[in-house]
Amino acid sequence: MSFPETRPRRLRTTPAMRRMVAEHRLHPADLVLPAFVREGIDEPVPIGSMPGVVQHSVASLRKAAAEAAEAGVSGIMLFGVPVDGKKDAVGSPGTDPDGILQAGLRAVRAEVGDALVVMSDLCLDEVTDHGHCGVLDERGRVDNDATLERYAEMAVVQAEAGAQVLGPSGMMDGQVGHVRRALDAAGHQDVALLAYTAKYASAFYGPFREAVNSSLRGDRKTYQQDAPNAREALRELELDLAEGADLVMVKPGLPYLDILRTVADASPVPVAAYQISGEYAMVEAAAERGWIDRERAIEETLTSFKRAGADLVLTYWATEYAQRLGAAGA
Ligand code: PBG
Repeated sequence: MSFPETRPRRLRTTPAMRRMVAEHRLHPADLVLPAFVREGIDEPVPIGSMPGVVQHSVASLRKAAAEAAEAGVSGIMLFGVPVDGKKDAVGSPGTDPDGILQAGLRAVRAEVGDALVVMSDLCLDEVTDHGHCGVLDERGRVDNDATLERYAEMAVVQAEAGAQVLGPSGMMDGQVGHVRRALDAAGHQDVALLAYTAKYASAFYGPFREAVNSSLRGDRKTYQQDAPNAREALRELELDLAEGADLVMVKPGLPYLDILRTVADASPVPVAAYQISGEYAMVEAAAERGWIDRERAIEETLTSFKRAGADLVLTYWATEYAQRLGAAGA
């Protein structure tokens, strides 16, 4: 059968028809909200390069978490922003039980209980004065194995503050296994690991640097993956699974949809995609100029992750989009 008997347009005639045959759809539970909590502020501080996203105070974070839960979002991923003066070469605020990330975790758990899965970023870049994701050796290079020791300590401190899922995002070799053993040794067998399996060195992290007041000079190319390489994502996946990853993630999202598809096809565990700060900024900026339709662009990008195989999407639009789905009766 071919044209004129076959006409694919028949299934595109009305909104109801298109809805009926949609292969992929989003549900609020597919969404996880990344959120920033900053030490020493009473009012939320807007992030200029991410219109609509703020650095939260602990109080405003609690409200944002409650709102996300109310909208049906399934999780929240916290990033802590300590006051500059507390950052040092080894990232001490990351292992301080009263550090801002830990305070944020406790506040969110107290606010929402188990209504949201509470997750935290497990990395050093938010807490080091040099802004790298690890500790440096005497030549200024990121020292993989010494960094693992810091991640292990941070993991236990975050778990003790109430994190249910930890996201090791520093791309150190062996980080998932090392953190897993440290958690287990401290009695945190139930804390899950969301492995940043394929994480590429990307220009699209730009606005995140502002979001966490990062002082990074240089780049992360000696630890994050290089954009031309696809095959090594599978190698990273094998390693993370062998080390005990409970969930795996691909990041950034849009420029790496091919990687997401590859990982989703090969992964026996749930797969997340992270729609990062620069992807958010790009849509917001173009929409602000009236160059694209904001609502449609958001929906289209989120749908692309589902189509490429993601089970979960981390997005700064999580609450807004979940509310929109709720209003539409999803
Ligand atoms: C590292 C980390 C980064 C992001 C999440 N975790 C920054 C980086 O790797 O440079 C970026 C998230 C975003 O851009 O939205 N702690």
